[in-house]
Amino acid sequence: MQQKLSFDHLLSSNQISKDDISIIFDLSQKYHNEFGQSKAQKDRKSLHDCQDYILATLFFEPSTRTRFSFESAMQKLNGKIISLEQGLFSSIKKGESLEDMGRVFSKYSDLVVIRHPEMDSAKKFSKYSSIPVINGGDGANEHPTQSLTDLYTIKQTKNRLDNLVIGIVGDLKYSRTAYSLIKLLSLYPNNEFILISQEIARLKDSHKEKLLNNNINLRETINIEDEIANLDVLYVVRTQKERFASEDEYKKVNGKYLINNNLLKKAKKDLTIMHPLPRLDEIDTEIDSDQRSKYFFQAEMAVFVRMALINLMKDHKVEF
Ligand code: CP
Repeated sequence: MQQKLSFDHLLSSNQISKDDISIIFDLSQKYHNEFGQSKAQKDRKSLHDCQDYILATLFFEPSTRTRFSFESAMQKLNGKIISLEQGLFSSIKKGESLEDMGRVFSKYSDLVVIRHPEMDSAKKFSKYSSIPVINGGDGANEHPTQSLTDLYTIKQTKNRLDNLVIGIVGDLKYSRTAYSLIKLLSLYPNNEFILISQEIARLKDSHKEKLLNNNINLRETINIEDEIANLDVLYVVRTQKERFASEDEYKKVNGKYLINNNLLKKAKKDLTIMHPLPRLDEIDTEIDSDQRSKYFFQAEMAVFVRMALINLMKDHKVEF
């Protein structure tokens, strides 16, 4: 019998327990073993884990990895997909509320992934939804399935999720992956977080307060040179240009950090370098062939984690 997750909708990393992670990663590993070897694909048996189920992917903001890894995951499970190419071509354009849209999609699909520029948009959508809703990114707030992918990637590369020094560098003010990642990794003992950013791009106070209230070991700095040698994981995020009030403000933050061969000379030989992607100019392509660079591996792992999530959540019936 399939194990049950502690949540019905997945809206925030706060909902995810260590037991949930263990259940999700066991199934992710199974799918990873099955689908991770491209040469074996011809011979493998077709999976029918989601046959006759429909996943709706509703994207009101651009996406490559989140949307297409969810859709690829559903295809691999032999499920069906209905998709909103651009949210503004839906009746949202006529003024329909996210809450009403949530009611309607409950009748059209079995599971929804939504990305929307507003904070708490997935929560609003889920209010009257009788099917599970997954937050695929709500503005600068959260991106819980990216964080599950990030943890799975770290587990694959470091073989542990504890006793790690994790540096997170870039625009932490508008990054929706940084906060969710810290929340999830802090479930494991002896992890230390070093937040590296310009002062005006630091993690939002509301997020920082929540983390510090939970006694999470974190500190802030602007200097990556002094930290790089001690890191086990370097997590890089891009400057989220679309969320800045002006070009001038954006320029004060963008281009301040560059991960290149010169910087990595001081780093550990088994450092794991990650980025949720898309990258712009914060990671030099010269390090793509460095065996420590794991960002494309990370994008690949998203499919297996999302296969597991879809399968584990698809039968949830939600009360409201
Ligand atoms: N990592 C991530 O969320 O990428 P996309 O914006 O392409 O979905």
